[in-house]
Amino acid sequence: MNLTAARNALRSASRVAVLTGAGVSAESGIPTFRDAQTGHWARFRPEDLASPDAYERDPEMVWAWYAGRYQDVLRAQPNAAHHLLTQLEQRKRAGFFLATQNVDGLHHRAGSGTHGGQLVELHGNLISGRDEVTGEIFPLPAPEVLATPPSSPRGHRMRPNVVWFGEFLPEAALTAAQDAFATADVALVIGTSGAVYPAAGLALETLQRGGTVIEVNPTESDLSAYMTFAVRDVATRGLAALLEQEA
Ligand code: APR
Repeated sequence: MNLTAARNALRSASRVAVLTGAGVSAESGIPTFRDAQTGHWARFRPEDLASPDAYERDPEMVWAWYAGRYQDVLRAQPNAAHHLLTQLEQRKRAGFFLATQNVDGLHHRAGSGTHGGQLVELHGNLISGRDEVTGEIFPLPAPEVLATPPSSPRGHRMRPNVVWFGEFLPEAALTAAQDAFATADVALVIGTSGAVYPAAGLALETLQRGGTVIEVNPTESDLSAYMTFAVRDVATRGLAALLEQEA
């Protein structure tokens, strides 16, 4: 398949499913997950902070890390790739489904999921907390006034509302994503290394049902071998090329 055919497939698709990873937010200044950590956190691997064990051992430290990331994502702005995906949703309406592995909330802030399509945050987000007793999810106070570990309005301690290594994804979100990818005419896989399952397996469901799978990533990923077509560029320019828009 070439770029023209990929554009045509996307234009004529009535059902489009999109999977995004950290790469889609790289141009908003948010480091990808596997980039080196900086400053105080440089000596930690994310895997050693984003886990139930780490939280049990040292909830204050884990919360301090998340509070810093929460502040960073609120300072960042959605980039052209986030906005182009919102435009795609405006065209496809109920035929649009976006599953993100990102916890930065930028798709939500760019308006995804509010134009007839659906947005699911497979790994949760940094802007809310989860009551450790009831499981309810509450927005966090603004970073400037966030005391950690925070308490829920019920008076219980809250944990970060993210999926940690070794934890299951929220079942409803995963089932919705699996259905959407299985029935999609075209799946877009943008800015993900494809290393973490089950998210990485979603595009394969589209492929197995005879759909077209297109990757946007400047470098090859673990999923590249399965792709019908790949745009080897950053998310903003790659998506603009696919959607025939100015970058
Ligand atoms: N545009 C598009 N892709 C980019 C860009 C960019 N500007 N910059 C980097 N990338 C690509 C990289 O080539 C890489 O393939 O984004 C990908 C980022 O990979 P990871 O850092 O592994 O992020 P991701 O795939 O989202 O990780 C998945 O793993 O650790 C868990 O829960 C965490 O959600 C995360 C999941």
